[in-house]
Amino acid sequence: MVDDDRQKRVLITGCSSGFGLLTAVLSAKAGFDCIATMRNMSRADYLRGALKQAGACAKIEQLDVTSPEAVRQLVARYAPVDILVNNAGILVMGSALDITEEEIRRVFETNYFGAVGLTRAVARQMIEAGGGLIINVASLAGLVGHPFNAAYAAAKHALVGFSRSVRLELKPFNIDVVSVEPGYHRTEIIRSNANLTENFYDKQSPMFEYNRGFLKLMLDEIVPRAADAERVAKKIVEIMQAEKRKPHYVIGKDAKLLTIAKWLGLTFYVEKWIYKYLVRATRRENRRAEARGRRQRSDNRGQTKHKPAGASRRTGDRR
Ligand SMILES: NC(=O)c1ccc[n+]([C@@H]2O[C@H](COP(=O)([O-])OP(=O)(O)OC[C@H]3O[C@@H](n4cnc5c(N)ncnc54)[C@H](OP(=O)(O)O)[C@@H]3O)[C@@H](O)[C@H]2O)c1
Repeated sequence: MVDDDRQKRVLITGCSSGFGLLTAVLSAKAGFDCIATMRNMSRADYLRGALKQAGACAKIEQLDVTSPEAVRQLVARYAPVDILVNNAGILVMGSALDITEEEIRRVFETNYFGAVGLTRAVARQMIEAGGGLIINVASLAGLVGHPFNAAYAAAKHALVGFSRSVRLELKPFNIDVVSVEPGYHRTEIIRSNANLTENFYDKQSPMFEYNRGFLKLMLDEIVPRAADAERVAKKIVEIMQAEKRKPHYVIGKDAKLLTIAKWLGLTFYVEKWIYKYLVRATRRENRRAEARGRRQRSDNRGQTKHKPAGASRRTGDRR
């Protein structure tokens, strides 16, 4: 990286919430010249508030990573960027049979092509400037499969493959490329930003009950165990400050355990275990839905039985 006295400039995508927001605050607090970008500026007040609370300051800019023209303009305006953090990402849950092609493309446009576009734009400047650092926020889902999130996992696998490839291409130019692969952490991507495919509850789909079972599994078992998001942001800032870096960083207990299982060739057992939990959650959800249906039917019957005679007339519309 360029070695001068100037503050290092870091450009981060997706700073309206989650890892992006926290990384913007922590990097600004650590003394970086932070350009925090977000797609939706109406959410900028959260970041402003968090910066103020931390006694830090950053420039906040609008950027939709799926717009190549917006990426080009922003990167040109802030040249030279020393560090790029490709963080913006979306999730659309639902089986691979139910998710629409448009939704799959949207996931790839944001999670893969968005990061690729920014990397290509920024790397040219970094070459001119004599070096730089690119951190791609991938996922555990970029290392192992993720049922009912196949598009997300495929885009993250693509991002990991991209990172590992360009890492060597950019090495002669003193540009370091690393990826981070977090497991589940408490951010909006598993809460208010979690999208379900528009066909998620399509009763005609052979996957209907499994979609529902998976969601239940997520809400009951996975989301409550998700780790603190600040650990990921701290690790990203540590990577920014490090003299020497690893090609990739697996973050979180769940991600570490699954990665070790993969190294040890135990993926088969992990799949068996996930499948068992999925089937169990699906059966439980089916039973719950049946009970709900029975209750509803008996309530309806009760209402018909106890409906006072002449009730409709008492509303007065025929009198
Ligand atoms: N949390 C986890 O468990 C976890 C685990 C592994 C990896 N990750 C990855 O971590 C990254 C950050 O996600 P998060 O967990 O912090 O979730 P988050 O709170 O939902 O943050 C995602 C951010 O990406 C932004 N974004 C979405 N589409 C965009 C676009 N087209 N252009 C610019 N920004 C866009 C969102 O902005 P809006 O407000 O406009 O939607 C939001 O600021 C993602 O790449 C995600 O895949 C998360």
